[in-house]
Amino acid sequence: MPAPIILDCDPGIDDALAIAFASGHPGIDLLGITTVAGNVGVDKTTANALAVSEFIGAAGTPVTAGCAVPLVRPALDAREVHGESGLGGAVLPPSRGAPAPGHAVDYIIGTVAAAPGEITLVATGPLTNIALAVRREPRLAGWVRNFVIMGGSAGRGNTTAAAEFNMWADPEAAAVVFGAGWTVTMLGLDVTLRTSASPAVLQRMRELGPLGTTLLLPALGSYRAGPAGGARGARPRGASTAGPAVHDVCAVSWVAQPGLFRLVPAHVAVETTGVLTSGMTVTDFTVGTGAGNALVAMDIDVEGFWELALRTYAGVAARLGGAQQGG
Ligand code: BDR
Ligand code: CA
Repeated sequence: MPAPIILDCDPGIDDALAIAFASGHPGIDLLGITTVAGNVGVDKTTANALAVSEFIGAAGTPVTAGCAVPLVRPALDAREVHGESGLGGAVLPPSRGAPAPGHAVDYIIGTVAAAPGEITLVATGPLTNIALAVRREPRLAGWVRNFVIMGGSAGRGNTTAAAEFNMWADPEAAAVVFGAGWTVTMLGLDVTLRTSASPAVLQRMRELGPLGTTLLLPALGSYRAGPAGGARGARPRGASTAGPAVHDVCAVSWVAQPGLFRLVPAHVAVETTGVLTSGMTVTDFTVGTGAGNALVAMDIDVEGFWELALRTYAGVAARLGGAQQGG
C-alpha cells in the first residue's frame, strides 16, 4: 500500500520537483499539499503548488494555504535563487483551481488525527506551519507515522555560514519543531548538496517531453544561477559546483526509498539568539542509538537517488503523454 503523506512546502523550484516526485511515485499517496511563505510569499507558493499540480495531472490533490510570515521575525525570501515567481524559468499555465478552504495548520492536524500512526508529514520549507500545528495539537507528534524535513545541516549553512535557508527563515519555528517530542528525520545540506543534476541527468530530463522541457529544465536552468543551488551566502564545504542540487526531492525520496540514506541518531538544537549563527542546527552525535530528537542523514546513494528520481519523473511524463522513446 502506498505511504500516505502530506507535503508542507514553499514552491520554490526544488519544492516543485518534490511535488512532481510525490505525485508520481507509486509508493507514495500524496494526500494533500500545504504551503508556507519561504522562497517567495505564500500567495505565490500556493499559486505555484496549484499550477504544478495541475500541470502534472494531479489537480485533484488539495492545496491548502498556510502561514504568510514566520512566527516571530519578518518574512525574508529567496527570490534571488528561485526567481520572482518562485519557479525560476518555468512558466506554467496558471491553475484553474483554487486553494482548498481553511488553513494549512488545521488541514495538517485534522488529516493526521483522522488516521493516527499512518501519515508521514514531509516539510520542505520553513517550519512555521508545523510549529503552529504541534503547538496547537501537541499529540500530532505521536500521531504521525514519520516526520521528515529538508532542512538544516550538521556542518555549515547555505544562507549564512551557519544556517540552511529553511532553518534561517524561521528559526523559532524550527526550535519548536525539534522540541516537539518526535523524532525528526533531518535531510540537510550534508546530503542534499550532493544531489546536483549532472549534464547526464539534465539530458535524461530533456527526454521527458513537456514535463522536462516546460517544468524541470526551465526551473533548474535558472536555479543553477544560485550559489550551490541553494540560497544566498557561502558555498558549504563539499558542495558540488556541478549543477543545481534538488534539496527537497531528497525528503520525498526518503519516503519512497529510505535505504538511499544513512541516518545517524543525534540531538539537534536550533540556534535562535546568535548574531552570526541564527538558524544553525547544532547537531550532537554523541547521544547514541535510540536517544536524541533526530535522525540526521549523513550519506546518500547519489546514483540510486537519481535513478529513482528519473524513473519517477518518467512515470509522470508517461501520464502526461509526450515523453520521447527511451525517456
Ligand atoms: C532549501 O531552501 C530553499 O531555498 C529550497 O527550496 C530548499 O527547501 C535549501 O536550503
Ligand atoms: Ca523548499
